[in-house]
Amino acid sequence: MQNQTTIEKITSLAKRRGFVFPSSEIYGGFAAVYDYGHYGILLKNNLAAAWWKHMVQLRPDVVGLDSAIFMHPTTWKASGHVDGFDDPQIDCRDCKARMRADHMLEAFGIDADKMSAAEINEQIEKLKTEGKELKCISCGKKNLTPAKRFSLMVKSNLGSPTDALSEENVVYLRPETCGGIYLNYKNTLDSTRVKLPFGIAQVGKAFRNEIVARQFIFRTREFEQMEMQYFLHPSDMNRKYEEWKEARWQWYLEYGIKAENLRWYKHIKLAHYAAAAFDIEYNYTALGGFKEMEGIHQRGDWDLSQHSKFSGQKLDYTDPKSGEKFIPHIMETSVGLNRMFFAFLHEAYTEEGEGEDMRVVLKFDKRLAPVKIAVFPLLKNKPELVAKAEEVFKNLAKNYMCEFDDNGNIGKRYRRQDEIGTPYCVTIDFDTLEKDNCVTVRDRDTMQQERVSLENLSVYFAEKFV
Ligand code: GAP
Repeated sequence: MQNQTTIEKITSLAKRRGFVFPSSEIYGGFAAVYDYGHYGILLKNNLAAAWWKHMVQLRPDVVGLDSAIFMHPTTWKASGHVDGFDDPQIDCRDCKARMRADHMLEAFGIDADKMSAAEINEQIEKLKTEGKELKCISCGKKNLTPAKRFSLMVKSNLGSPTDALSEENVVYLRPETCGGIYLNYKNTLDSTRVKLPFGIAQVGKAFRNEIVARQFIFRTREFEQMEMQYFLHPSDMNRKYEEWKEARWQWYLEYGIKAENLRWYKHIKLAHYAAAAFDIEYNYTALGGFKEMEGIHQRGDWDLSQHSKFSGQKLDYTDPKSGEKFIPHIMETSVGLNRMFFAFLHEAYTEEGEGEDMRVVLKFDKRLAPVKIAVFPLLKNKPELVAKAEEVFKNLAKNYMCEFDDNGNIGKRYRRQDEIGTPYCVTIDFDTLEKDNCVTVRDRDTMQQERVSLENLSVYFAEKFV
């Protein structure tokens, strides 16, 4: 029976083993921002590559893009973000904790997601008359400020030093990556061979001034999104939407998430332009249960219509066969790479055995594992073993992310690689040199060991990593 995976266990492993570090620690930390260490960036890159492979490489109908973080500020006027991308905030006057008013009202069965600050404060007053009062979720006291709406947009300035701080030079750090996709819809259409229906995919940073961000890398102020916007004729929407929902669900299963840890959440309240929105939720038990990981949304013709209106440019499409002219409709798949990283780390985290014998092992799919093979000389003070191990490392590293480790006893080295999730460890010993020219290969999951001849080692791993 596996022990409960807690947030403390995950964050401690993530830091101890160089996956994720809190930002700016030597200055006392910087809230809701994280850095990725050696194993973290390897895992993140592998996840992004696995996503890209299925979203772009294997699909004739999706092409890639890497648009800039800074964009013309009118982009965010057109998209509605400047005026309407905000969350309601309440502060505790005593302990200074900051809370989401909509989350607090949810506990009383009130859906405040789309309410103005005044409407939220009315609801809070009404609750008081019913003898129910909001309490600080941190200190439990009732000394709370009224709710106010708080923009999630992160502002910056561009321009010469003299005018850098003036209002007209304000630019925003993009709050989602898809804005750059809409602005490059026409460029993509004109420069690649795509015809409707087609998609544009990109991976990149996004920034949101999140009010509450206390859940490790689940919700941060700087994060990465992997988004794909699919442009189509409205008559194709329902069919394509179902296809994409299925494709995204299957992708998670393919890379090792168990079906029982995934579920669909159907949004009832939709943006005025949206016809359907579903989330794929993952069971982040360390955060208390199922939570949104990826969104799959129908966005209608809102985005291109708005950008057409604000830019004065025609963004319509002419069907080459029928000659019909229309603004393409869009459906998107949108996932936070960091949130996905968290889910895969959570899923892989396994404790086996009890007490002293307990081992922690990250059972990643081999394609996602940060390091594929670790190479050990049995003893570090025997130059002939070290030289042979270095030679094996050099050969394997041409094709796989490998790690060389000569520190401590072999048992400890195995434990360390288990905690990183390395599928195979290769040990060079005296028999390798003196007897059989074989190495010991140890399997992460079964802990079985086998002797493999050095001549066959590359074929052996080619079969293991198909
Ligand atoms: N273009 C649509 C869009 O951005 P969203 O639901 O706001 O939709 C999509 O975000 C995904 O981006 C979420 O499902 C989540 O995985 C990720 N995401 C959003 N805000 C995030 C944050 N503050 N930290 C980490 N990931 C975030």
